[in-house]
Amino acid sequence: MKLWGGRFIKETNKLVHNFNSSISFDSRLFRHDIKGSIAHATMLAKQGIISEDEKDSIVKGLGGIMEDIENGLLKITEEYEDIHSFVESNLIGRIGEAGKKLHTGRSRNDQVALDMKLYVRNEIDELDQLIKNLMVTLNQIMKDNTETFMPGFTHLQKAQPVTLAHHLGAYFEMFKRDRQRLYDIKNRMNTSPLGSGALAGTTYPLDRDYSAKLLGFDGPTMNSMDGVSDRDYLIELLSALSILMMHLSRFSEEIILWNSNEYQFIELDDAYSTGSSIMPQKKNPDIAELVRGKTGRVYGALISLLTTMKGLPLAYNKDMQEDKEFTFDAIDTAKDCLSLFEGMLSTMKFNNAIMENSAKMGFINATDAADYLVNKGLPFRDAHSIIGKLVLTCIDKGVSLDDLKLDDYKAISPIFEDDIYEAISLKNCVNKRNTIGAPGKKAMEKIIKMNEEYLQV
Ligand code: ARG
Repeated sequence: MKLWGGRFIKETNKLVHNFNSSISFDSRLFRHDIKGSIAHATMLAKQGIISEDEKDSIVKGLGGIMEDIENGLLKITEEYEDIHSFVESNLIGRIGEAGKKLHTGRSRNDQVALDMKLYVRNEIDELDQLIKNLMVTLNQIMKDNTETFMPGFTHLQKAQPVTLAHHLGAYFEMFKRDRQRLYDIKNRMNTSPLGSGALAGTTYPLDRDYSAKLLGFDGPTMNSMDGVSDRDYLIELLSALSILMMHLSRFSEEIILWNSNEYQFIELDDAYSTGSSIMPQKKNPDIAELVRGKTGRVYGALISLLTTMKGLPLAYNKDMQEDKEFTFDAIDTAKDCLSLFEGMLSTMKFNNAIMENSAKMGFINATDAADYLVNKGLPFRDAHSIIGKLVLTCIDKGVSLDDLKLDDYKAISPIFEDDIYEAISLKNCVNKRNTIGAPGKKAMEKIIKMNEEYLQV
């Protein structure tokens, strides 16, 4: 079942065959391999390198192979070295002599480079759609929660009050950048390696522009050695997926914290939680934990491919076959995580009252209390120190700034009046913050509207 038996006298060692083969994992490229071959044959006929009849027969044969694989009538079996050998051998089996002409002016080196680009281009579209779905859910939750107050944290210490809409809005921005990265990669990689041959082009008068156009590329690659050995776009994709996973992982970490008994900001739906085999009370956030865990796996794929490529002389080397399994796994992992995340997010319950109560405790309106004094003419540094003293008094008395008596305020600074309570109320603290990107209701509503428009295209 080999494409290259002619020069060999002895059979390949069985272990060598297994070690060398990629069919167990590149079989998933069958559609892209066939699509690429149809474009190649069409171009060969246009250039008069094969006849129209031969092309028709090849195209029909390849179409039949695609259909039969899809319907389960044709099984991809492991005695072939790779998906390219499988398709070509099958074609020859089906249509005879004309099938032997398909590989004219082509090498498996430009063929596999093409297949991977076609595959990745399609996967980028699917990933993009999944991120977008997640963002639709996110923006809806934001819309419903512009007045759900919660503490904003720095150093995981309560810092200043925000809203749930504002907190989730940060993830919306991250996912927006993730989509932009995918878009950039797709644009940059959109050149066709087909016609690069093994490494040095071919002597046949191929029309590379034409085959590139048939396959939806912006044009052909401009150096045949680069064409067969460029894996930058895979490294870029794995890098973009690593960043995406890092975002999902941070989000997961927050969900795990928020779902804990200590926080109780959210409750995960039963359908998105798991139990313990020993502790009957447990409802665990396994999905969020797994998303956080699987992030390491995607980082691993990136480091693996960077390492594989770093020492390779031009042009093709078999090391490059190692680009596939990790890339496929990273794409599959990211897609699974995105779908699950959307489901987990759209079904979880937010405990608004607990979040708001948590925002009330912890002096997160202390900055606003200082701003109150600044508005009354005090320099900020002095105000900061006065409020610091007030916080100490509150800790001493076991009350919040909201509940501290006016007399106690006045004992530290006579500037305080009754309007301090209004100035430091949670709602005011948040809703006075209306600069672009701030959590105030008006500012947030503008952002949510912008998000809606963004999601419509
Ligand atoms: N399975 C190979 C790969 O994934 C296909 C290209 C093989 N080319 C070669 N000259 N052996 O890279």
